[in-house]
Amino acid sequence: MKILVANFKAELNLSQISKWLADFKSQFRYKGSNQLILCPPAIYLSLFKAELTNLPIFLGSQDISQFEAGKFTGELTAKMVKDYADYVLIGHSERRRYLAESKEAIQSKITQANLQGLKVILCVENPEVYQGQLFALAYEPLSAIGTGVPEDSRDSFTKVQNLKKSITQANFCLYGGSVNSQNVNDYSKAGFDGVLVGAKSLNVSELIQIFLNL
Ligand code: PGA
Repeated sequence: MKILVANFKAELNLSQISKWLADFKSQFRYKGSNQLILCPPAIYLSLFKAELTNLPIFLGSQDISQFEAGKFTGELTAKMVKDYADYVLIGHSERRRYLAESKEAIQSKITQANLQGLKVILCVENPEVYQGQLFALAYEPLSAIGTGVPEDSRDSFTKVQNLKKSITQANFCLYGGSVNSQNVNDYSKAGFDGVLVGAKSLNVSELIQIFLNL
């Protein structure tokens, strides 16, 4: 089984998302036992859940609050997200970089996700230590994220093996950073369990091709 996680980031509004969903529903073909996890902006999770109900697809949130519940204006808690999604991305480099997300906050988010049974896909570039359960570790070199310059698949696999020495609890290892339908199979062949795709998620036919080539 290989895993494809699609991270939509903060790119599409409702009309664009609606078009994406319509195109996806008409083009999607399921392949073997591979797993597709879609992470749209949280505001669209309920729409995705309703629209994709008959397809073998899982939903994930791009983030959750580090707080369990309470007076935290604007936050979306793990408990809220759990009603719509099974997975959550935690620690994405864009959140660390632009929203000053700290390792302490990341640890709290892992704890909250674990408490609610949300499966954690932890994004990391360098060795870090966290407590709690992780579904997958996504190795994401900064130089490759959103740049169109992917890291060599064998170099990446060597680095993720190293990361696994400090983050021992993840079941699966993913690669993220400028993945497309042409290079995705290099990461499968190198030994990764799957990939995390950003920009190419927005293009339905390209995303489906990545899934088929995984
Ligand atoms: P990219 O993003 O595929 O656009 O490089 C990957 C990511 O942010 O996880």
